[in-house]
Amino acid sequence: MVIILFASCSKEKTETLSSPDGKTLLTFRLSEGNANYEVQKNGIDIISASRLGFLLDPGDSLCKGFKISSVSTSTFDETWQEVWGEETSVRNHYNELKIDLQEEAGKQRFLTVVFRAFDDGIGFRYEFPEQKGLKKFEISDELTEFAMVNNDSAWSIPAYKGVYYEILWKKSLLSKLDTVTTPVTIETSDGKYILLHEAALIDYAKMNLYPKEGSTLKADLTPWSTGIKVYAETPFYSPWRTIILADNLNQLSNSRLMLNLNESNKIEDVSWIHPAKYVGIWWGMHMEKYTWSQGPKHGATTANMKRYIDFAAEHKIPAVLVEGWNYGWDVDWVAHGDQFSFTRPYPDFDIDAIVKYAKDKGVEIIGHNETGGSTINYERQLDSAFAFFQAHGIHSVKTGYVNPLLDKKERHSSQYGVRHYLKVVETAGKYHIMVDNHEPVMPTGWQRTYPNFMTQEGVRGQEYDAWSQDGGNPPEHTCIVPFTRGLAGPMDFTFGTFNFNNPVYPQTRVQTTLAKQLALYVVIYSPLQMASDLPENYAGNPAFEFIELVGVEWEKSIVLDGKIGDYVMTARKDKNSGNWFVGAITDENSRHLALNLNFLDQGKKYMAKFFKDAPDSDWKTNPYPVVIEEKEVDASSVIDLYLAPGGGTAVYLMEI
Ligand code: NOJ
Repeated sequence: MVIILFASCSKEKTETLSSPDGKTLLTFRLSEGNANYEVQKNGIDIISASRLGFLLDPGDSLCKGFKISSVSTSTFDETWQEVWGEETSVRNHYNELKIDLQEEAGKQRFLTVVFRAFDDGIGFRYEFPEQKGLKKFEISDELTEFAMVNNDSAWSIPAYKGVYYEILWKKSLLSKLDTVTTPVTIETSDGKYILLHEAALIDYAKMNLYPKEGSTLKADLTPWSTGIKVYAETPFYSPWRTIILADNLNQLSNSRLMLNLNESNKIEDVSWIHPAKYVGIWWGMHMEKYTWSQGPKHGATTANMKRYIDFAAEHKIPAVLVEGWNYGWDVDWVAHGDQFSFTRPYPDFDIDAIVKYAKDKGVEIIGHNETGGSTINYERQLDSAFAFFQAHGIHSVKTGYVNPLLDKKERHSSQYGVRHYLKVVETAGKYHIMVDNHEPVMPTGWQRTYPNFMTQEGVRGQEYDAWSQDGGNPPEHTCIVPFTRGLAGPMDFTFGTFNFNNPVYPQTRVQTTLAKQLALYVVIYSPLQMASDLPENYAGNPAFEFIELVGVEWEKSIVLDGKIGDYVMTARKDKNSGNWFVGAITDENSRHLALNLNFLDQGKKYMAKFFKDAPDSDWKTNPYPVVIEEKEVDASSVIDLYLAPGGGTAVYLMEI
């Protein structure tokens, strides 16, 4: 570590930091007491002078009149193992530049900015050291800017319109963006990608962005109901602001910069944490076959649960999700989330009998805690809720926060929400419970620190194909989300529909072919992956074999080809068997893709099993035909894949 102390300050000072490969350059500049940064890659400007600092409440600021009090640099290089993920080993290699700033006049407060330069991009955060002049404080605005040099196109969703990030992603020029949430995926005019997001969002408000002037994006933190963005007390840290720079979609998907900027695993014994596929009564509720509440159509009955457990056991699906098992659903639960009891099962849900039946068949139950957005009620019961599950041998819980506001007051993405979600994850860990968080705050990589934080919703998932008034998710949607929302973390999208008739909303349906439903298990990543349709819709369909076969724990993942919004082809190597899976999907247009199998081990032979669209398949008119075909292949094989309109191909590659 090198520390340079500054005795005096001139009008302008610069410090630079390069990535380990020397290609990315970060320049920090203090000019007239104002701090800013710039980013270049391969000598080309990516981000021009961008402001840093804060406005504090009331009427105060921490953004000007600075001098540099010290600068230090360091280098770090480690390779760590993921408990689960899209690959097993992750290299965390960066150079760091730490700039300690101090106000020259007034309270002479300190603010530190830490930059890390990785080969795949830049991360930086603010640190507010413990000091006399700054103890408890309130942030009214974070002034961070990203002055993008080019007014490129970006994929985004608005931050304050719509709920829970369940919105269709749109592409527009940076200068034309709404106030959008991150991640924001920028497609540059020379075919490269820039991802703006954040890492380790802890005790802080979610960062959104808006175009302040031209293509300069400015941070906009989700406020509390008081209008304050963040309540803080020194020592305090902001989350990392992240800028991933990728030459292609494979590099973009395989960047682990966000995970690397989270703290390492805090859970010592991880033997109880394991990815899984699951089935459940969930789709039956959304198709209005079942109800969450008690009554003639109650879904979570002992008999129905046993039926699902039987199906899971027969098809080697390790887990069954139950929803609507506890008191609280009979009222208007969105308005009265405080009525939920997380330890009182309905009388027709014999939890002891169900968990025993499941255990005897080698199946686990995934519990469900819908809170209706009442975090106060949930936190009051949190320990007893998890102790209850643990006592029944239940090691996973799906949580839900259906309500436009938490506790009728605060946004999910506010510091209030962030504090709650982390408390749930930490408490769950103590009881050996894995979490599948619906209506979350946008993920930022907590799973590195808390590997029991498995997956989140925060996406317009399959349920929109049950009841959305606009007809369902358009075919291009799943060709967008792997490179937008999916880059923030795993998505509990819950595909796997085999029956496309919708008795309740006949105009709404899954807008894919059946083969595309299968391919999504490879294209969209989640360590908990649901086969969401009703068992009766899977019965006797040979295509279900792919869902039985497909992995959920990956050694390696490769985006073989793709164009955001048009098509994606992804290959993943199963961590346990060493077998490979490929998923290829398209939007509403049919297309041919060349599947080059050169990622397979050289010299080995594989049996490839294709689950593909028929020549006359079409998501709208003929979604069901799936042609299943086997073929011997090796690393030299190149296969022509035909994807029907709204279609896909799923491939299983087993070494022989
Ligand atoms: C919305 C969730 O996304 C869905 O999965 C769940 O079934 C309902 N809320 C009820 O909790």
